[in-house]
Amino acid sequence: MPAASAPGKLILFGEHAVVFGEPALAMAVDLRTEVYVRPGPETTVNGLPIASPRFRYVRAAAKRGGASDPLTFEIRSMIPSAAGMGSSAAVTVATLAALRALRREEPPPETLARLAFEVEHEVQGRASPIDTSTSVHGNGVLIRRERGDGFLWQVERGDRKWFLHHVDVPAFRLVVGETGVGAATGPLVAKVKQFADQSADARAAIEEIGRIALEGAEALGLGRWERVGELMVRNHELLNFLGVGHPLLDRLVRVARRWSYGAKLTGAGGGGSMIALTDEADRVCQAIEQEGGRAFVVHPDPQGVEVRP
Ligand code: PMV
Repeated sequence: MPAASAPGKLILFGEHAVVFGEPALAMAVDLRTEVYVRPGPETTVNGLPIASPRFRYVRAAAKRGGASDPLTFEIRSMIPSAAGMGSSAAVTVATLAALRALRREEPPPETLARLAFEVEHEVQGRASPIDTSTSVHGNGVLIRRERGDGFLWQVERGDRKWFLHHVDVPAFRLVVGETGVGAATGPLVAKVKQFADQSADARAAIEEIGRIALEGAEALGLGRWERVGELMVRNHELLNFLGVGHPLLDRLVRVARRWSYGAKLTGAGGGGSMIALTDEADRVCQAIEQEGGRAFVVHPDPQGVEVRP
């Protein structure tokens, strides 16, 4: 049975601002989603009808992936859903790759990345390519406004253009703190757009986040952890200003910071998860759990989408 797996991701800098074309930095993490597909009597996902709302991404990916005959999908995911860790991007990428494998096609990664972006855009209403491209490529991905070293591919939508670049993420650990508060990405992205349309301060915050992402990527490459931490904290404040924070996220960030270089929310926010950069992962995990979150440690995953014919 053809199968594909794709990693989840964490956004280190630049969520939300990246939707407006600003720079952002993400890394793939060692939590993956696997999709198996084979011809079947009717199209189902894990034995349930694909029409169910929880399979929006699989359904949109199947449509764009050109699936016309009935198919049986089996999906196994280690990535928590609605937690800001790219579970929808990973399932989209793995579904598209598994469908191509079924047809014995091996599309170049940029084809998968562009298709996966279109799927996310359709389901979410508005999106950037950061999650889907990171899930395709693995390792680290930096979005810039222009083409530079490590260029991978570009993605366009209307007047927005994103240039995606490979970045070597150092072997480090991040603590993730999940709030357990689920928040859908689409409405949060729409809320930021509305704010930006009305407020020059919101637009300035979005631009500052873009500058932070570029400086953060450089500081990370140089191992300047203190600076990376400061930039994380400022990025978190700006996301709060944009209205995508949550009181529990703030509490988790505050307790984690006692033993961390820095901490911030990651992904769409409104709940979801935060990350902390720390040398004292055990203490940070304990503090997060005491505050009511669920904590675990993740590592970068150098492997992007993988296909088994
Ligand atoms: O929370 P997630 O994994 O859906 O990440 C969303 C990242 C945003 O920048 C908020 C949206 C996007 O498409 O880039």
